[in-house]
Amino acid sequence: MSFVISVLLFLIAMRWSGFENASKSFVAKDLDVSLVGRSFMITGANSGIGKATAMAIAKKGGTVHIVCRNKERAERAREEIISASGNNEVYIHVLDLSETRKVWEFAEAFKKEHSSLNVLINNAGCMVNQREMNSDGLEKNFATNTLGVYVLTKCLIPLLEKSRDPRVITVSSGGMLVQKLNTDDLQTERAPFDGTMVYAQNKRQQVVMTEVWAKANPKIHFSVMHPGWADTPAVAKAMPQFHQMMRNRLRSADQGADTVVWLAVSRATTAFPSGLFFQDRQPVSAHLPLAWTHSSRREVKVFMGRLETLAMAVKPSDSLTQRSFDCH
Ligand SMILES: NC(=O)c1ccc[n+]([C@@H]2O[C@H](COP(=O)([O-])OP(=O)(O)OC[C@H]3O[C@@H](n4cnc5c(N)ncnc54)[C@H](OP(=O)(O)O)[C@@H]3O)[C@@H](O)[C@H]2O)c1
Repeated sequence: MSFVISVLLFLIAMRWSGFENASKSFVAKDLDVSLVGRSFMITGANSGIGKATAMAIAKKGGTVHIVCRNKERAERAREEIISASGNNEVYIHVLDLSETRKVWEFAEAFKKEHSSLNVLINNAGCMVNQREMNSDGLEKNFATNTLGVYVLTKCLIPLLEKSRDPRVITVSSGGMLVQKLNTDDLQTERAPFDGTMVYAQNKRQQVVMTEVWAKANPKIHFSVMHPGWADTPAVAKAMPQFHQMMRNRLRSADQGADTVVWLAVSRATTAFPSGLFFQDRQPVSAHLPLAWTHSSRREVKVFMGRLETLAMAVKPSDSLTQRSFDCH
């Protein structure tokens, strides 16, 4: 089965041209901006696309909050970013995004401790190939890729709204093109568990959440994107066959980060409507031609309602959210 999925993903990957080709139409001055005075939160920034994004933003003078689950890996990334960028404004926050209750605690504390946040980049993602649960009893892929993103974003929206030119970028995946939103089995309790398909479903859910948030929060510019297939630890570990099949065509992490950075910093981004799906600095359809993957308004409403119920069920009481998180 995973071989068939690898072939399917390979064919989807081929639908898009490579980075070199796409980048011929990029406008170089789009990224020619100073980010001094702007703050960015990037999840999963100790590795791959997240680290490349943090590095690019730090080099332009932005204040960077890197949210990582492992303190040592985060510290190594921070040192690397500071040394290459000369920018000391890089702060570590240790958080496992699969632990929904902790996401609430972190986001509530961050909101109390910071007077502004200009850009949230939901980059961290995982593909756990067995059905594993977090300490709240929630399936881990869903908890990390969907519910963690939901809670973090929902909680930080009031802070973003107070800040200048606020944006939220969520790193989804072209893999979501093979999935229609499934509202009935959010945690894969009934269907056979296939990590690649669960991941693709979560990435579809990120697209749907972004569309809903964009309509509900007009002060903030939301986008969701596919970074292109990049050679990162996540791909090598979670999809070894796909990694092997694509190895000569994979992008570098910097190339994968290009559109994330562009969406986060360039003025050109906000000329596009909020809520779109991007690839290579262009809005593209979130559905394949003639696809069955569109969801009805009712399905979207049911989905968002279920997320809210699950999120609120593990929301800690106010007193617990006062505690500070590691921040260096
Ligand atoms: N590379 C591609 O071809 C590709 C294609 C489509 C979409 N994407 C998406 O791009 C994003 C970045 O992935 P990547 O390819 O750059 O892989 P990566 O280098 O492995 O980075 C993934 C990051 O997410 C972090 N992470 C995973 N689970 C977490 C959790 N529970 N709590 C906190 N952090 C967590 C990882 O932390 P650890 O280092 O501690 O594991 C790591 O920092 C992901 O959302 C992925 O789905 C990548």
